[in-house]
Amino acid sequence: MKNLIVTSCGNSEKLAKKIAEKLGVRYFPLVISQFPDGDIYLRFKTVLKNKELIIVQSFQPEPDRSLFKVIFAAETAKELEASKVILAAPYLAYMRQDKMFNAGECISSKVMAKLLNSSIDEVITIDPHLHRYKSLKDIFTIPAKRLSANSLIGEYIKKHFKEEVIIGPDWESYQWAEKIAEKIKVHAMVLKKSRFSSRHVEVKMTQPIEIKGKKAVIVDDIISTGHTVIEAAKQARKLGAKSVAAICVHGLLVEGAAEKLKKEKIEVISTNTIEHSTNKIDISSLLVEALRKEN
Ligand code: R5P
Repeated sequence: MKNLIVTSCGNSEKLAKKIAEKLGVRYFPLVISQFPDGDIYLRFKTVLKNKELIIVQSFQPEPDRSLFKVIFAAETAKELEASKVILAAPYLAYMRQDKMFNAGECISSKVMAKLLNSSIDEVITIDPHLHRYKSLKDIFTIPAKRLSANSLIGEYIKKHFKEEVIIGPDWESYQWAEKIAEKIKVHAMVLKKSRFSSRHVEVKMTQPIEIKGKKAVIVDDIISTGHTVIEAAKQARKLGAKSVAAICVHGLLVEGAAEKLKKEKIEVISTNTIEHSTNKIDISSLLVEALRKEN
């Protein structure tokens, strides 16, 4: 582990420091600022020659700038003769754009991966939004490891809730909702979602489930605007759920989502793949374990 250096590009500083501490290596901050015209300035103030660099950086907030900061850092590390650059990106942006939904659209997940393939040696991420892609290999040519926060979420539910039913708000969420429910042996149901736009969704029950008087725990990979969770919560309440909580891996919580959900009396819990006040589940151990195996 002597030759390892951990840094971040601004978004995941807390997590990066925690990971460095657990690995017993030093965390080196990068100097990052902005030129008056908006260009990114980036500088390493440490020797990188023959060192392995781990960049811990979630691509949220500011997904585009995050991506560019990572690329600038990786390319600079190579100039400075680092032996390897590993990106530990707890949240990878653009993964939901995995096909041309309408003619002429950019399949941005492919472009994002192409950029990383050319600058990074290896990528590790947590619960990437794999829907139409079977695995990260569909877009990454570099070694790409996918970790899952499912066990940690399952443990949290077991420890904090009683008489709960797990709800997956859409078909894709079975990877989280059903899998977690199986692990902790509680009932689960996956709803059917129709998305009309980024901010307009409708969800329907597909199979009946006993939820009256119980706690509905909505589990999804991402909460972005919160509309999906709000619609799922409405369905659960219609069926008599006593209270509603929503747990996600990646709490993007944009456009005032956290406040909207609070107003709807939905308790929100997220992992710390993205720093947010709703972070209650720490995923640092997952990354540390994966990074230890690499070294
Ligand atoms: C999409 O398929 C994801 O799994 C989430 O359900 C979605 O991103 C949530 O978006 P929002 O919070 O904006 O409804």
